[in-house]
Amino acid sequence: MPFTTLDFEVRDGIAFVTINRPDKLNALNDEVIAEIAAAAEAIATRDDIGGAIITGAGAKAFVAGADIGELSQQGPIDGKARSRRGQVAFRRLEQCGKPVIAAVNGFALGGGCELAMACHIRLASSNAKFGQPEVKLGIGPGYGGSVRLPRLVGRGRALELLLTARMIDADEACRIGLVNAVHPPEELLGKAEEMMRTILANGPLAVGLCLEAVDASLDMALDDGLMLEANHFGLLSATADMREGMTAFLEKRKANFQGC
Ligand code: COA
Repeated sequence: MPFTTLDFEVRDGIAFVTINRPDKLNALNDEVIAEIAAAAEAIATRDDIGGAIITGAGAKAFVAGADIGELSQQGPIDGKARSRRGQVAFRRLEQCGKPVIAAVNGFALGGGCELAMACHIRLASSNAKFGQPEVKLGIGPGYGGSVRLPRLVGRGRALELLLTARMIDADEACRIGLVNAVHPPEELLGKAEEMMRTILANGPLAVGLCLEAVDASLDMALDDGLMLEANHFGLLSATADMREGMTAFLEKRKANFQGC
């Protein structure tokens, strides 16, 4: 699928996805959501992609939310359908089986914060701002904000942000666990790529099962999560990658994983 609202470029195993509507601060209209869904599918299924980095075009915004012009026209039925389309697209990204890093380069508001939260790791530039301002518009989050924010920062902090619509800066977002690290704007993409290269040098089957285990076990009873982990541990023991990883350690060399 050719993209019109995204730049989608694969370089040496990494898909660089840039939401590209800078004149609207990269707001998520229906077309962007459809293209994020297509991009997530490509990331999940293309063998030449090991992981993805998502960012926003321009210096000002990652994504300033769902497109308020479109939302203003919706009724209850198409509003729910729009919410479901966005949720499904973001969930596909979250469950693509490969690491996805959000490089948050400016405003990440509403759907932008929700997109970042659907990524596995969030790195922010020092000028980034986060918030869920939906209640100011008389609506609530529609793309997973009320579900993922409490999982990331805890119920009390999530409710404070959701109910007050307060915008927080990158340092506060880092302090409460919403982002993993803060970098100067000019270093953000380089740092995201460096982290992704570190991940991609590891066993890809093991990385994929870590993603699967954490995603699934957050909704499981402790004992079920532990059983899933043990099953993954056993399964990975049947792989050539495990033999390669351990042999490389014993031979004091770098492992060369094949993903099998
Ligand atoms: N939907 C549609 N258009 C948006 C948008 C959104 N979520 N966020 C920004 N834009 C548009 C603005 O309408 C403006 O378009 P215009 O130049 O055609 O008038 C352009 O992007 C630039 O935004 P502007 O508001 O002029 O920039 P600013 O620096 O003064 O303010 C923000 C930046 C992010 C604080 C402000 O744009 C804002 O509050 N956006 C909405 C955030 C929001 O509520 N998101 C959740 C939606 S559910």
